[in-house]
Amino acid sequence: MKILLFGKGGQVGWELQRSLAPLGELVALSSGSADLHADFSRPEALAATVEAVRPDVIVNAAAHTGVDKAESEPELARALNATAPGVVAAAAQRVGALMVHYSTDYVFDGSGERPWQESDATGPLSVYGRTKLEGEQLVAEHCARHLIFRTSWVYAARGGNFAKTMVRLAKERERLTVIDDQFGAPTGAELLADVTAHAVRDTLRDASKAGLYHLAAGGVTSWHGYAQFVLERAQAAGVALKAGPQQVDAVPTSAFPTPARRPANSRLNTDKLSQAFGLQLPPWQSGVARMLTETF
Ligand SMILES: NC(=O)c1ccc[n+]([C@@H]2O[C@H](COP(=O)([O-])OP(=O)(O)OC[C@H]3O[C@@H](n4cnc5c(N)ncnc54)[C@H](OP(=O)(O)O)[C@@H]3O)[C@@H](O)[C@H]2O)c1
Repeated sequence: MKILLFGKGGQVGWELQRSLAPLGELVALSSGSADLHADFSRPEALAATVEAVRPDVIVNAAAHTGVDKAESEPELARALNATAPGVVAAAAQRVGALMVHYSTDYVFDGSGERPWQESDATGPLSVYGRTKLEGEQLVAEHCARHLIFRTSWVYAARGGNFAKTMVRLAKERERLTVIDDQFGAPTGAELLADVTAHAVRDTLRDASKAGLYHLAAGGVTSWHGYAQFVLERAQAAGVALKAGPQQVDAVPTSAFPTPARRPANSRLNTDKLSQAFGLQLPPWQSGVARMLTETF
């Protein structure tokens, strides 16, 4: 079996290189790949790449993920998040490939407190959310056999992340200030990649499992609760901090104005995924604790 991966160097793409490797021959590309065109800012040329590789599975982890930046470069965000995935999906359909794509809770307006279901009405608040919604619609429209995973608050051990920033700031400052009115589940790139590999195997055997799924770690927290958890773990690991969990002040989103509006309710109901693939999504704390253990 042959798998074509776009966005190999991103948080999720990096972990997919690991989790997809045992399934077959992996052709992993980044925007600058020399031999095969994989630059999503020139979407039309991507079809030739799919047709040259003729994969059984395409996994797209490439995206314009700069939520604030997207507000000032909507055309580029649309090319990367919508047009390019649509072109890849149409090519996937032509070569008979299963297409895997990632989307986001930012397709919702963030109202209420109930975890969003796949069937709920969308209402993106930002360019990023609107272009990601258009992308998932184009993938579904152009490639019948697709898996689209909407996820939230993604972190990875590799590179920078919110948890590492909190630990760094808590070493430098007596008090931290963190938003406490946005709710979601921090979700590890490792978990996304592992679930993707399981779901790909299942869907190749049973095409009726293709579709749209919410995929996030279990439980819910705020950014404030997330920061406090991180500092508790840091203290327990003996990291010298100036600010502990009790020195994290809670503030509303309005205290940190940003170009893009973010949804307050990022909770995702993952029942459909758990039932379809027989998987249990671990609580968000277990993945974050593991990532921190690797960091300290
Ligand atoms: N991060 C989050 O909190 C979050 C939340 C919900 C959903 N998601 C979704 O999850 C998926 C993976 O996100 P992530 O966090 O892994 O993103 P990421 O770390 O920002 O990685 C984005 C990837 O996109 C690639 N990329 C950027 N510009 C490109 C271009 N012009 N052509 C081709 N590739 C390009 C980058 O590759 P190069 O380095 O090669 O340019 C990189 O590999 C995305 O669909 C994202 O929308 C993310």
